Amino acid sequence: MGWGELYGTLTGYQGAAAIMAADRSGLIAALAGDGGSLDELAARTGASARGVDALVRALVAMGIVESIGSAYRLGPTGAPLAATGPDGLDRLIRKEAVFYALWARLDGAVRTGDALLAPFAERARTEPAAAEAFLLALNDLAGRVAPDLVPAARLEGARSLVDVGGGGGAYALAFSGADPGLDVTIVEQPSVVPLTERALAAAGAAGTRIRVVAGDATRRGLGLDERFDAALVSHLLHDMDPEAARAAVRGAASVLGPGGVLLVHDVFREQGDTDPVVALFDVMMLVENQGGRTHSLADLRGWLVEAGMGEPEVHSLGFTTLLRVEAAG
Ligand SMILES: C[S@@+](CC[C@H](N)C(=O)[O-])C[C@H]1O[C@@H](n2cnc3c(N)ncnc32)[C@H](O)[C@@H]1O
Repeated sequence: MGWGELYGTLTGYQGAAAIMAADRSGLIAALAGDGGSLDELAARTGASARGVDALVRALVAMGIVESIGSAYRLGPTGAPLAATGPDGLDRLIRKEAVFYALWARLDGAVRTGDALLAPFAERARTEPAAAEAFLLALNDLAGRVAPDLVPAARLEGARSLVDVGGGGGAYALAFSGADPGLDVTIVEQPSVVPLTERALAAAGAAGTRIRVVAGDATRRGLGLDERFDAALVSHLLHDMDPEAARAAVRGAASVLGPGGVLLVHDVFREQGDTDPVVALFDVMMLVENQGGRTHSLADLRGWLVEAGMGEPEVHSLGFTTLLRVEAAG
């Protein structure tokens, strides 16, 4: 990396800040569809003419906004910023805006080793709307991965699936959509259960065989008295310290019968050695979750063996990895 690239990294925050400001000021919404002139955009958002002029011209230079005569609107690259769902980024702008403010205090987390956010179960109680928005943003990310994850999971023979720490339910919905006869149980922390139920209802889960129950991933049996043909543990382990993650692998394995399939989906340390985006994910976990981190595949393999599982198949899904492993028959 030369001086110029290094300086570009140092100033990289400006592009993200411009998008977040455009969202918060209402400019993204005003630029969607036919957009308008700078004067119209200022009138529609109530923002200053000077501010709109600077920000919109910056968004043009960034390739996000296009100008046609005196009118400005989101171009094809920028259109996802105004859209919701797996092809949209609007909920993800707001998710990242929360972290943007926290990363400005990253040195504090580095000094202490402590997360800068309260545990998610507490946030679900004290700020449920923000916690639900977070789960919906995760659903949008999951919606992009699910089309690759579901076929790699090969759950054809399974009649029941437990989605441990299922969050907003996007993976439960994807598996249910692929096999409407599959009984899917989402296990969530008690304070999160109502948020999961609302997210599922918003995603149109009525009529599916998906249910949500309170439990604890780190307990044997997950706190339930049931067995399942398959268990999914997606993006849960990175929220946990190694002991809790190990217990969660044991917990998920403990609800499987002989031949049951355990699916572990996450970001793992080995990938981060060469990919800065993945390596920075570990920093994100430092900021977000007390004890959270990217675990190593070697640790995970050890926890799987301890839990009585065999050798996993490893599927790279780009940013994330899916491990599929069967319980001894
Ligand atoms: C990062 S989210 C992942 C959501 C979803 N599985 C996905 O892949 O997008 C982690 C979820 O795990 C849940 N969780 C954390 N600790 C848990 C525990 N001990 N038992 C059950 N769920 C837990 C959280 O409430 C949260 O919804």
